Parts: sequence; C-alpha cells; structure tokens
Amino acid sequence: MSTFNTYSFAGKRAIVRVDFNVPMDKTTGKVADDKRIRAALPTIQHILQGGGSVVLLSHFGRPKNGPEAIFSLRQITAKVSELIGTEVHFAADCIGPEAFELSKNLQPGQVLLLENVRFYPEETNGDTSFAQKLAQHGDCYVNDAFGAAHRAHASTTQLAAYFANDKMAGLLMNAEIENAKKVLLHAERPFTAIVGGAKVSDKILIVENLLNLANHIIIGGGMAYTFFKAMGGQIGASLCEQDRLSTCLDILEKAKVKGVQIHLPVDAIAADRFAADAQTQIAASNDISEGWMGLDIGPKAIENFKTVLLQSKTILWNGPMGVFEMPAFENGTKSIALAVAEATQKGAFSLIGGGDSAAAVQQFDLSAQVSYVSTGGGALLEYFEGKVLPGVEALEA
Ligand code: 3PG
Ligand code: MG
Repeated sequence: MSTFNTYSFAGKRAIVRVDFNVPMDKTTGKVADDKRIRAALPTIQHILQGGGSVVLLSHFGRPKNGPEAIFSLRQITAKVSELIGTEVHFAADCIGPEAFELSKNLQPGQVLLLENVRFYPEETNGDTSFAQKLAQHGDCYVNDAFGAAHRAHASTTQLAAYFANDKMAGLLMNAEIENAKKVLLHAERPFTAIVGGAKVSDKILIVENLLNLANHIIIGGGMAYTFFKAMGGQIGASLCEQDRLSTCLDILEKAKVKGVQIHLPVDAIAADRFAADAQTQIAASNDISEGWMGLDIGPKAIENFKTVLLQSKTILWNGPMGVFEMPAFENGTKSIALAVAEATQKGAFSLIGGGDSAAAVQQFDLSAQVSYVSTGGGALLEYFEGKVLPGVEALEA
C-alpha cells in the first residue's frame, strides 16, 4: 500500500474510485445533493496539483440489465466539472476502445469521468478479468469511495490487486475511517448512540454491537414500536415487526446484563393516517389508540433524550426519530439534531451516519454544527456492526 500524501502523482494517471451515487431531483434532472461530489474534491485537487491526471470511476444507482439513461453518469458531468473547476471529459463506457483512447491521451491536470461501472454485471460480481480491464486506465489506484466500501465489487476490491505498490486510500476514505475509529475504538465516555429508522431488522446487528461499545442507546423512529409491542404495549397501527418481538426483549435483557442504558421514547406524535395532513395527538408510546400510528417522538421523549445527549462526550447517530420529511413529524428529529449540535458545542464528538440522518442534519441546516457527517450510509452501518469493509481491506492486502 502507498500513502496518498507522499505519493508522487506527477505525470501519472490516477484511477480514482469515487462514490458519486448522488440523489437526483426528478423534476429538474439535476443533482439534488452534491455532498458526495464535494467530499471527493480534496483528493482530486491534490492529484491534479501534483501534476497528475484523474480517471474517475463510480457506480450510480442499481441498473439491472446494462446501460439505461436514468443511471447514466453523463447527467452529473456538468456538476462535477463545475465543482472541480475544470472541464471533465466523459467516456460513454467504462471499458472499450473509446474509453481507453480517452484515458490514454489524458494530460496532466485533466479529468475523465467514466460511465457507470454497474452497467456491467461483472462489477457487482467482483469479476477479476473486468477489474483487469479497468486497471488499464491508469498507473495507480486511489479508493475514495467510502460510501461503497462495504461492497466487494470489482472496482472497489479486485481492482486494487493490480496495483500492488500503487494503491491507496484517498483523503475522504482516510477521514471517514479516522472519524469512525474515534467513536468505535476511542470513544470518550459517556458514549451515546442514537439508533432510529423504520425497522428493527435493519438495525439489529448495529444495536448488538453497540451493546459492547456504548453507555447509552437511544432508540427512536418506527423501530421503537416493536419494542413497545414486545413489552406488552398497545401500539395501534404503528409499525411493528411481529417476528422481531423476541429480538427486542433479548436486546433489552442483554443491555441490562451489560449495564447499557436503553432509552425508548415514552411518548409519540400519533397520527390517524400516514399523511402530511393527518390528524395528530400526543400519546404514550405504549398506549396508542386503535387505527392511530406513532410517526414521531413526543415532547417527553425529546426532553429525556436531550438530557442524555447533553451529558454525553461521544455521540453516534444513525437513523431518524420520525417521518421528518413531513413537517408535522419533523420535530423529534429536529430537536435531537439541535441537542446533538448543542452537545458538540459543549465539547462532545458527534458522528452522523450517512443516508437519512445526514439528510436530516442537512435539512435543519446543522451539518456544520456537528463534528463529522459521513458520506456512507450502509458502509458506516456495517463498520459499526463490527464488519470488515472489503474496500478498505483490499487496500491493506
Ligand atoms: C449507497 O448510496 O448506499 C452507496 O453508494 C452504495 O450503493 P448501493 O447500496 O447501491 O451498493
Ligand atoms: Mg446503499
């Protein structure tokens, strides 16, 4: 493995695997959130300033059967050019004669964006001969795609093998790992993890692992109601995973044994239907009327959670407290975001998991008031589940 900061890029073509899997605005056809592109800029600029050229390689969405216009990276080329501040050339295929011609002729300071690598099923299959073809695009390999580091795909793992002495993590990848390790390995105590989102089943592994790491676990979002149901509560029409009731009891029991405090939202904003203009009322989370559903945490839960957060020195947040996309149900997530920001100001280290939590912090304009917002959704989740990320491992091999 090489080290990015000391590697000499002069006269070299660097293949940079980025995660430009950015959300698109369906009405305008433009990039809806350019955070992932911005996050890769320091790596790209460093290579260009060091006299190298850059071949950008990324996936975009989940195309099933080859090329499809809606999954084309061509749509984001203008945005990438604008942010880098230089014209980015586009190759309409990630392998093939035209693409290789373009990368071969790349001059120092130039940038080429290759078409969606997932237009080939060989990518997700981790095909080595496909990786070997991709390797022909450059002299070194930089992986900056933390958001895709949990995927054992050709461009995130196999490709590294073709650059034994010229493979390295980029600046974003390094920053992501460093910030995650601050929490995973060196958390100052008390360490509070906030876990939210709709389903217990999506978060079991992280909660299990957090039982070994955290002092407090705050549980919010739809997943909380399966816990209340498991404890014998009435949850009306709230989300519930019947097949996870025993899992919830098991988690509560393990927490007791390990001395980890689990905090559930004692009250809820209940709605008579899943709609932005639904009728609402505050209800105890274990006493929700038939036909009503909890769509956000209530005022008492907010106060309880806030108290815990303001005493914490390390905070990890993964998953929203309610349906924050609808104004009527955003208050819980917003209040928790504000409490995390306040705790951070008081000296806590706060790491916000990507995906929904990152979107929430951004929606409330608090991204700059927390310590670090990850560009990884699934990748950060898996890292905190205790898994090895194949994309990171491949660089170290
Ligand atoms: C993501 O947004 O989760 C990453 O870009 C990985 O994409 P994937 O979940 O489609 O593998
Ligand atoms: Mg994903």
